[in-house]
Order: sequence, then structure tokens, then C-alpha cells
Amino acid sequence: MAHDPAPAHAALKRLHMRGDQLLIGGETVGELASRVGQTPFYAYDRQAIRSRVDELRGILPADMHLHYALKANPMPALVDWMAGLVDGFDVASGRELSVALAAGMSPACISFAGPGKSVAELSAAVEAGITVHVESEREIAILHELAAGGRRPRLAIRVNPDFQLKSAGMKMGGGASQFGIDAERVPSVLRGLDGSRIDFRGFHIFAGSQNLSAEAIAEAQSRALELARRLAADAPAPLSELNIGGGLGIPYFPGEQPVDLAAMRLSLQQLAIQAREWFPGTRLIMELGRYLVGEAGYYVCRVLDRKESRGRIFLVTDGGLHHHLAASGNFGQVIRKNYPVVVATRMAQKPTEKVMVVGPLCTPLDLLADNMLLPPAVPGDLVVVLQSGAYGYTASPLGFLSHPEPLEVLV
Ligand SMILES: Cc1ncc(COP(=O)(O)O)c(C=O)c1O
Repeated sequence: MAHDPAPAHAALKRLHMRGDQLLIGGETVGELASRVGQTPFYAYDRQAIRSRVDELRGILPADMHLHYALKANPMPALVDWMAGLVDGFDVASGRELSVALAAGMSPACISFAGPGKSVAELSAAVEAGITVHVESEREIAILHELAAGGRRPRLAIRVNPDFQLKSAGMKMGGGASQFGIDAERVPSVLRGLDGSRIDFRGFHIFAGSQNLSAEAIAEAQSRALELARRLAADAPAPLSELNIGGGLGIPYFPGEQPVDLAAMRLSLQQLAIQAREWFPGTRLIMELGRYLVGEAGYYVCRVLDRKESRGRIFLVTDGGLHHHLAASGNFGQVIRKNYPVVVATRMAQKPTEKVMVVGPLCTPLDLLADNMLLPPAVPGDLVVVLQSGAYGYTASPLGFLSHPEPLEVLV
């Protein structure tokens, strides 16, 4: 068992070590750092991702499709790996679309959601034959214009639901929003679709992200199903696809518990029974990012300096906010809390001192661990931020202060 910087942190329970060293993908962190040749770096453990997908498949109804949202982690090698594990991809930009196509995913199983798509992005999506999840009437109009020479752009409507995801997490429905078309406007939008030019596929209803409550997720998904049923009455064709979102979170902070998969299993089975009755032949899709890759990622940096200032110990590392904004607490946290952090080269040693783990930037916001109980570390030691596989590298201001960018490796 690893030392415990934050008592009973769920992420620490699944760590493996050899001697004093954390194992990542079966390799000690020291060996891995030598092989990578530099710190800081992100390492993503492919077998951990596979196990996560397998575990989830074990509770999903057999006919429910599992899609990966690339926004969580679009590293090309990781996306290639995901292509063999999931049934489809959701992309959020033209560049993510290129990565998804290069990974060999069938265009029929790729969706493109997100507000503010450019004409160039919409054209590329239509050209590739993927499904555009439209977020506005403007996007619908452009897709109609792009229909030419017998080509019928595939379109699904992203609906801004008239309900809100309960419990914690990032809510993305229920009020005014830049995401999707308001549910009450959808009937008239549907009536305006020209079926001779547009291939209407269905609905996408995404209520929010980073939710740890199986009950709240189940409620949102069942309300999404009911909403889809109401809206389908005005659809020009039966739904080919219905994407009910996902939003399963992972525990980042002390005291948080993983989503109760046994409870999810029951609610999803019930949902699938209802869906088969209301939407026979419709492909039911659950779309997840963070849940699939978040726990498989490690951000590894090295202690460069150890300083004492007015009674506090500071471990200054070569990594920080510029590489891992979320771990610094500046990516959507209201009250800053520590991500799980370990001294990965002293795993067998007792945590005896409270320290500040900071980065090299010129701002006090550049903080990876605030007053965390860790084993005494010195320059040269490796510090690892756990739960770093999602919204890490690409969700960080990599150019800030012009330090070198971290590497990313799939192990
Ligand atoms: C439309 C859509 N799909 C999927 C996701 C991925 O969410 P998560 O990584 O929490 O699964 C998001 C996140 O914002 C989203 O907006």
C-alpha cells in the first residue's frame, strides 16, 4: 500500500510499486523517466485503459454503444488504441476529427459536437461522412448548403435539455446555454429540415460532466430518453441514433468515491428496456471521456529545489500549472483542493512532513500540492500527479513562460 498524502484517497488504493518506486505500466517510474529521456512527461497506461473499458462493458447492456470523447485526451497514439476498444468517437474540432479519422474509426461512428463550428470544419465533416451534432440553426443552414451532388450531410441535433443534472459536477443543461438547441425550439427546427438534402440521424443530449453519483446520472439519462421520445414525434424520420451522454466522473479529491457501477448497471438495464420499446432499431450511445482515460494517466515531474521559507517547505519541480492546469486547481475548481500526488521514488517511506509542491512559474497559482503530507523529498526525486489522463496536456496553457513542453507517452 502506498503512503497516504490524503487519507483514504481512492486513487492510491490501486497503485503498484516495486521497492520505493511507483510502477507505471509495469515499469518503475525511474526506468520510465530514463527511457523517456526528460521530465516532465505524461504517461498513459494502455492496459489500465483497456481494463476500464472492459469493466464498463461488463455493466453496459449488450446493445449499448460506447463512444470515446477525444476532448478528454486526443493524443494520437492513445486515440489509435481507443479505436480498437470503443464503438465510436466524438470530436470537438477539425483537428480532433483528423486524429479520429487517422485512427481508422469508421466515419459512420464519428460525431462532431461543439458550438461555433467553422464552415471549414463543417465542410470537412461532411466530406468525411461523419455525423454533425448541430448546436444552432446556423449550423443547420450551412449543412443544407453543403448538400450537393446527391451528398446528404448526416445531422443529429444536440439538444439543450429542459432539465438539469443533479448532484456535483459540471452541469451543461437546464438553463440558457451555448450548447445545443433549446428543447422547446427543437420541434420547429425539426420541421424545417429538408429530408431530401439532410440525413437526419437523431438526438444528442448531454447533461454534464464529472458526476460521481450513479443515481444522478441515471436520472439524467432517463430524462434524456423521455425528452427524446417527446421530440421524436416531430422528427422527419425514426431516430437512427440517440446519444444520451455520460458524465461519469473519477475521484480527484479526498473523500470522493468512484461511481457505483453496480447501481449504474441496474439503471442502464432498465433504460435499455425502455429504449428498445420506444426506439426499436435506434442505436443507443453513451459517450465518455474522462472516465475511460483519466485514471490511466500520470504526470511525472522532478524536484529541482527544496527550499524553506518562514517555516514552510517548498519542493520546486520542473512541472506545474503550464502543463497541468487542472492539478493546480485553476480549471473549474471553486475552492482549490489537492489532486492525489505522490513522491514516486519514495513510495515505501513514511510521510512525515507537510510540504508545498510548486512549479517554476512566476505565480503563486503554480501549485501542485498545498500543505500535503509526504515523505521527505530532495532534488532528483520524482513527483507524480495521479488521475492525470484527462484534461491534462491539452487543457493547459503550455506556452506560459515558454518552458519546454512535456512529452506524452503511451506505455
Ligand atoms: C458533448 C460532450 N461530450 C462528452 C464530453 C466529455 O465529458 P467527460 O470527459 O466528463 O466524459 C463533454 C465534456 O464537456 C461534452 O461536452
